[in-house]
Amino acid sequence: MTVLQRKTIDALQSEAAQTEEDLQEHEGGHTLTRSLTALDVTMLGIGCIIGAGIFVLTGHAAATNAGPAITISFVLGAIVCALAGLCYAEMASTVPVSGSAYTYAYATMGELIAWLIGWDLILEYAVGATTVAIGWSGYVVSFLHSIHIDIPAALAQSPLAYDPAKGWSHAGGILNVPAMVIVGLITILLVLGIRESARVNSFIVIIKVFIVLAFIVAGIAYVDTSHWVTAKNPTGAFLPPNTGESGVFGMSGVLRGAAVVFFAYIGFDSVSCVAQETRNPTRDMPIGLLGSLTICTILYVLVSYVLTGIVPYDKLNVADPIAVGVDAIGMRWLSPIVKLGAIFGLTSVILVLLLSQPRIFYSMAKDGLLPPFASKIHPRFKTPHITTLFTGLVVMILAGLLPIGLVGELVSIGTLFAFAVVSIGVVVLRITQPELKRAFKTPAVYIVGPLGALSSIFLMTGLPADTWIRLVVWMAIGIAIYFGYGIRHSRLRAKADAPSGQAARG
Ligand code: ALA
Repeated sequence: MTVLQRKTIDALQSEAAQTEEDLQEHEGGHTLTRSLTALDVTMLGIGCIIGAGIFVLTGHAAATNAGPAITISFVLGAIVCALAGLCYAEMASTVPVSGSAYTYAYATMGELIAWLIGWDLILEYAVGATTVAIGWSGYVVSFLHSIHIDIPAALAQSPLAYDPAKGWSHAGGILNVPAMVIVGLITILLVLGIRESARVNSFIVIIKVFIVLAFIVAGIAYVDTSHWVTAKNPTGAFLPPNTGESGVFGMSGVLRGAAVVFFAYIGFDSVSCVAQETRNPTRDMPIGLLGSLTICTILYVLVSYVLTGIVPYDKLNVADPIAVGVDAIGMRWLSPIVKLGAIFGLTSVILVLLLSQPRIFYSMAKDGLLPPFASKIHPRFKTPHITTLFTGLVVMILAGLLPIGLVGELVSIGTLFAFAVVSIGVVVLRITQPELKRAFKTPAVYIVGPLGALSSIFLMTGLPADTWIRLVVWMAIGIAIYFGYGIRHSRLRAKADAPSGQAARG
């Protein structure tokens, strides 16, 4: 028995097929309920995708990396996500249980890698929720200020600042209270029920997609290539010339821009976390994953094209670039609505990220890699309330204390790592179990899988060294916990080592 022990797909599939009654017998009465439709999961995907990335980072990346060619950066980001998304879709339709990349790794690469991916996903979901909650707080403070309500700065800021060169210092704030409040409120909603949470998410998604569309429709008639002309781009080229520094305009700038705006796509994979709560997961998972990604890609490319076509890109390095865009076309009345849309938008991102994390913990606890209390389901609400409350509490503390710069890139590197593993996993599974019934098959898998892994790793290499160091330290902590706890409590190992010689369970 080794740490490479894999769950069998048959076992995972029957795990997925177990009826609620079966589970009630075996698990002490409570399990997740299957109540979400294809539309719900697509909405969850969009709910998690459209957020700080498009509302904030687009302007920053256009101004400092790619100029009008930020549109190409968005296309490149979409290609990386589509490659990984196709692999997620096959995995999610074949192994439709909670746990996302963690579960897929368990089935393909063994327990240790699965644990590491589960541990890594904390960076995407919990640290992602922390990042977006801090961004949410910034937008709310700015919006309230525009309607003459001022929150004292010390109560809306992290007490800590971090500079890679100088280290930690005191930032002047006491606590980021708005960030903590939104995390607290969403956590309560998530405990109350998956349907309730999905309903709130769908409502928010309709508002934010409407606002994004309103921006595109209002702005597209004003797009003029004369806006591409800036002091550093006197000819008005679509791809401004490189300044001599790698990543600052030119082709290298477009690639760096793609690494920056990758954040905007994070979240489509969260669809796979609710596989066990979806009515027809083998069909609805691919629809949710690929549908939400396609819709958001189209919106992103159009928004970035319109934005850089109505405002010279060197004026876009601001916290609210879309609002600057509507001001530029004389529609000032639309500006507060856009800000409100961004606030709604970020709210649903936090919601879906905070919904996904507890479901990963739930799956890990059911496998014995985390203590059993983490797999408890609330008898009435049918939600993993213990892990939801735990995640909410930790994210609240982090969001109250940490600066946004420290956490954002960690989210991207963690997500890309998971993408790479899932892309490899789908190929491994095709080789090891070619006969397996797959509701959705990744087209050209022997090209798409390796390309998905390579392109994710390529984007990871664009991230700074200190982010890599944090990833390594985080993983080292994960390995220590696995050998300190998980390896001794693993249910799969217990079954494999059982005297009856029973086959390992899934
Ligand atoms: N894609 C999410 C956002 O942009 C994480 O906020």
